[in-house]
Amino acid sequence: MANSASGEGMVPRIVRVLETFDSDRTVQTASEIGRRAGLPSSTAHRLVEELVSEGVLERDDQHRVRLGMRLWELALRGSTALRLRQAALPHMERVQAELREHTQLAVLEQGEALFLERLSHPDAVSNITRVAGRLPLHASSSGLVLLAHADPALRERVLAGPLIAVGPQTITDPAVLRRTLAEIRRSGFVAAPGSIEAVSNGMAVPLRDRGEVIAALSVVLPREAPVEPGIRALRAAAARIEAELRSSRA
Ligand code: PHB
Repeated sequence: MANSASGEGMVPRIVRVLETFDSDRTVQTASEIGRRAGLPSSTAHRLVEELVSEGVLERDDQHRVRLGMRLWELALRGSTALRLRQAALPHMERVQAELREHTQLAVLEQGEALFLERLSHPDAVSNITRVAGRLPLHASSSGLVLLAHADPALRERVLAGPLIAVGPQTITDPAVLRRTLAEIRRSGFVAAPGSIEAVSNGMAVPLRDRGEVIAALSVVLPREAPVEPGIRALRAAAARIEAELRSSRA
């Protein structure tokens, strides 16, 4: 693979180009991409050109580029995340019909909770979760469940801090976080009121496949909503999704 003068391979440079796109920055010029990716302008223009010709990026009529449908297609085809989302969706819809707030599905991805799906209601409480967006493990209810069941080395890395306060009640004390994670493993759920935003309460349960926790299922409810109905709905849905995953393998 062709290396740059700095010795960096082609693949990390392509990844840096793709990473300059996010939900607030969906179209860019090749020069903007180069600046944000820290690439020389000529390299950025050449990479963008090649990615456009492969359909990974698409050009608009002002010669700016966006992520291409071909990238979406390749990313989803054969993806385990898609299989999980498809198994979960009908059961998430039941939770959503019952509680009429927000229902999310998240997986652990490179030290953060990555959200695969979010269902919402027009009158629901504020929710900062985005599909394909991430939240810190120690702050979101999904993240806390994933962290409780994560590899101990990752858990220790997160416990070593910094534990940034996202909401007024985010756990920022490592000793409290350690106790909370042990309690999640014991009880099988978490409620984290005010951990992301003062107005809401995130609740989550683990989803298992072949005995391993592979995802977290969560709801975001108004802060004053009772916890018990949320956890009951999540547990029932998790059991149905786990059965679905088992039968899809059989
Ligand atoms: C949560 O997962 O706990 C959570 C996520 C987004 C919010 C509130 C809570 O806006």
